Amino acid sequence: MRRAWWILALAVALAGCRPGARRPRRLTLYCSAQHEWCELVARRFEESSGIRVSMIRKSTGEVYAQLWAERGNPKGDVWWGGTGDTHFQAAHANLTRPYRSPRVPELFSWAQDPMGDGENRTTGIYMGALGIAYNREWLAKKGIEPPTGWQDILRPDFKGEIQMANPNSSGTAYTALATFVQLYGEAEAFKLLLKLDANINQYTQSGAAPVRNAARGEAGVAVVFLHDAATQVAAGFPIELVAPVEGTGYEVGCVSMVRGARHPDEARAFIDWSLSPEAQGLAAEAHAYQVPSHPQATVPPEAPRMEQMKLIDFDFGRFSEKAVRGHLLKRWDDEVKGRGR
Ligand code: F6P
Repeated sequence: MRRAWWILALAVALAGCRPGARRPRRLTLYCSAQHEWCELVARRFEESSGIRVSMIRKSTGEVYAQLWAERGNPKGDVWWGGTGDTHFQAAHANLTRPYRSPRVPELFSWAQDPMGDGENRTTGIYMGALGIAYNREWLAKKGIEPPTGWQDILRPDFKGEIQMANPNSSGTAYTALATFVQLYGEAEAFKLLLKLDANINQYTQSGAAPVRNAARGEAGVAVVFLHDAATQVAAGFPIELVAPVEGTGYEVGCVSMVRGARHPDEARAFIDWSLSPEAQGLAAEAHAYQVPSHPQATVPPEAPRMEQMKLIDFDFGRFSEKAVRGHLLKRWDDEVKGRGR
């Protein structure tokens, strides 16, 4: 009898190992969009495809650093969300590989091939503008006149009231840095950043944290993507959005396939699905208010109206170059962080 049990157990074990036996399909997703959106996207893709998803949410610069650290032995399959300039840099560094989804021709032209080299080394999934958000109750209590643009937040009455993220970890903050350089030229931009530093109470790791903190009264003002400010408004916090009068930068959030992905078929299936109007429509459910890249995806009424803002002609190519990015970040570390105070 005991022998019969052993034979049965062995047969079951061997059946699991036999060639062609069905193993669960898997995908490792690095996600740099809002946490709630990343979780929802992972769950819904799992439900619709049967592919098990391990999702890790990190800021844009942190995912780049992880891809770089893992380049000899990649663990991720897809990088979804996060500012496009850093996806470009990952493509230049051969950390990601081209994939042209059959859905690409359906997208808005700004999303079809953001690097513009005909290779689809990355693809656009959303767009969003940078700006300023402030807590109107906080400012009213302190008797501070609300800002209308970048120059206003340099005023001494904002001392200790402002948060923005660290541009080394955050794509949002790097977008701010690149925006100032394009608006004012590098020398003036660094003077502005130094004056701004005098008013900063904290550099956060992630780009959306400053406005979450402003919503909860830990700061008066945040330099953020305006869609992240809209999320706080929708949650009922006394946050106001400012599209800076001087003009502002914006992002094209992207999706890229990791070079050496262990699950390439699953990665392609995820990218195709994530470009569909149905998948992009999940953003509103997660209170994520970027402009989707598929024209048929519903744009929630809370999404900031980018067509009403003064947007600069952002040079994504130049500001994703390793040398330019490295130089600006080093200069920010050396000359700005904590130096204005
Ligand atoms: O919170 C969402 C978001 O603003 C995205 O639109 C953007 O791509 C990403 O965060 C940038 O995050 P971080 O600044 O933390 O890299």
